[in-house]
Amino acid sequence: MSRRPLLVGNWKMHTTVVEACQLAAAIRQGCADLPEERDIMLAPPATVLSEVSHIVHGSGIILAGQNVCWGPQGAFTGEISAVMIQGAGGNAALVGHSERRQIFHEDDAMVNRRLRGGLDQGLLMILCVGETLEEREGGQTLSVLEEQLRAGLSGVSIAQCDRLAIAYEPVWAIGTGLTASGEQAQEVHSFLRDQVTLLYEKNVADQMRILYGGSVKPDNIDQLMAQPDIDGALVGGAALDAASFIRIMQFKA
Ligand code: 13P
Repeated sequence: MSRRPLLVGNWKMHTTVVEACQLAAAIRQGCADLPEERDIMLAPPATVLSEVSHIVHGSGIILAGQNVCWGPQGAFTGEISAVMIQGAGGNAALVGHSERRQIFHEDDAMVNRRLRGGLDQGLLMILCVGETLEEREGGQTLSVLEEQLRAGLSGVSIAQCDRLAIAYEPVWAIGTGLTASGEQAQEVHSFLRDQVTLLYEKNVADQMRILYGGSVKPDNIDQLMAQPDIDGALVGGAALDAASFIRIMQFKA
């Protein structure tokens, strides 16, 4: 089963309009001679989505929100909706990022509500899951992930799964320079794929893209992408440097 690789740059709370436009323009240029067909997605801050969308227009780069609220509009101070993302030129969103879970206390129920809202409104969604260092050291990695996946996907129909990807981001590897080894990540990705089979069916699991995130860099992307169940990467720090992200987009598996 061949799954089209998906490389995502999550810019987190970085870039002013000017910086975002420069970065997006450089990445767009780097897309021109990618070795083979692969999907590139950028998740800039909401404040620059519209400007970035003008810069990447026609390049095939997909634009995503870093989070999304469930309703189309309303009294939700500080939130953005799928309709607003679409209006700014995006068609995708992340949910359940560990920074949302840990710093802003979003629980599985809220992540699920966001995910279903985004899917219902037509977005391509990435559900992020991942264990903390404490959970890994306590031998709870797989049970934590199983629960995040089960609760996160609750009420998501089989038909919606073709607009869904999963990102495995071990919390201990985010921004720390510690990366899961290819084998460590493969073990978890294969587990997650088995869980998708249990929740849906094998065909859905075979087609589901499962991305790895956590200190992905130019010097480890090739070994990560060589793993059979790693279908892409969700990149933070290295996505803010055009040359690094371009090398990641050009991974050789
Ligand atoms: P880093 O690549 O900076 O570790 O961040 C990973 C991440 O959280 C991407 O969403």
